Amino acid sequence: MAKVSVIGAGRVGSTLAQLLAYRGLCDVVLWNRTADTAKGIALDIMESAPVEGFDSEVSGTGEYKDIEGSDVVVITAGAQRKEGMSRDDLLNTNAAIVKSAAEATKQYAPNSIIIVLTNPLDPMAYVAMKASGFPKQRVVGQAGILDSARFRSFISQYLKVSVKSVGALVLGSHGDLMVPSIRHTRVGEESVDDIIPANDLDALVKRTRDGGAEIIKLEKSSAFYAPASALSQMVASVILDKKEILPCSAYLEGEYGIDGVFIGVPLILGKKGVEKILEFKISGPELDALRLSAEKTRELIKSLVV
Ligand code: LAC
Repeated sequence: MAKVSVIGAGRVGSTLAQLLAYRGLCDVVLWNRTADTAKGIALDIMESAPVEGFDSEVSGTGEYKDIEGSDVVVITAGAQRKEGMSRDDLLNTNAAIVKSAAEATKQYAPNSIIIVLTNPLDPMAYVAMKASGFPKQRVVGQAGILDSARFRSFISQYLKVSVKSVGALVLGSHGDLMVPSIRHTRVGEESVDDIIPANDLDALVKRTRDGGAEIIKLEKSSAFYAPASALSQMVASVILDKKEILPCSAYLEGEYGIDGVFIGVPLILGKKGVEKILEFKISGPELDALRLSAEKTRELIKSLVV
C-alpha cells in the first residue's frame, strides 16, 4: 500500500486520516507535535477497522523520522483563524510550522509529493516549495476543490438539483479574492448564468467567498469535513495516478500571464504531482481577478520573515 503522512492531527488531519483509511487507499502516518494526540487518534481509527472492514494501517507519531519513505506528505499543521481574523493574519506563525514540516519531508521523504492545506494557503505552498527544495511539480496546495465544492453545494441547494449535476470551477487565491469562473460553472449542460438570475448568482458567489468564515462564525472553529474531503480527492489522484483535472494551487511560471507565485488553477494531478497546468479560457474580468489575487499573494510572500 502507498504510504501517506499527514502532518498535524487537528480536525482536518484526523478526518483526512479517517477518510483515507475508510477508503482503503493507503497506510497513514499521523504526525503531531504532541505525539499522544496523534497516537490516540490513530488507535481510535484502527479500532474502527473491524467494523468498517479496512486494511489500511494508521499510526500516530511525534517524530518526523516516521514519515520516512512516504509517497505523499500532507501538511495541515498550523494555527487556525478565529472569528474576525483573515487567513492572512496567520502568515508568519504558520510559515515557521510549514517550513519545519517541509524540511523534514526533504530529509525523510525526498521523493514524495507535498500537498499543503495550512493557511494562508497560497503563500504556505510557496514556503513548502522553498523549504523542501522540491521541483514545482511536487508541491501543490489545496483550496480550489474546497471552494468549488462549496459553490456547487450552494448552487445545488438553490436550484434543488443534485450536486452531481452541478460542476464549478473556483480559481485564484484561497481568500477574499478567489475567482469563481462562471463560464465553467454548469448545471446539467447549461452555463449557470443562463439559469440563475444575476443578483442571486452574485449572492451565491459571495457566500462561497465567505464559506470558511460562515463556518467559523457558527462553530467558533475552522471547517474540517469539506477541507479533508478535498484533500482525500487529491491524495487519491496522486497515489492511484488518476490524472484528475482539479483546481489546486500550483506554482506558475507564465501561465495566465502570472509568474513566480502559487495560485489556484486547473491542473492534472497524478503520481508525478502537478503533471500539467491547464490554461482554460476564462473571461477578461476573471483573468484580471486572477492576476489581482496573484499580486496579493506576491505581497504576502514579500512579508514572510522565515
Ligand atoms: C476554509 C479554511 C480551510 O476555507 O480555509 O474553511
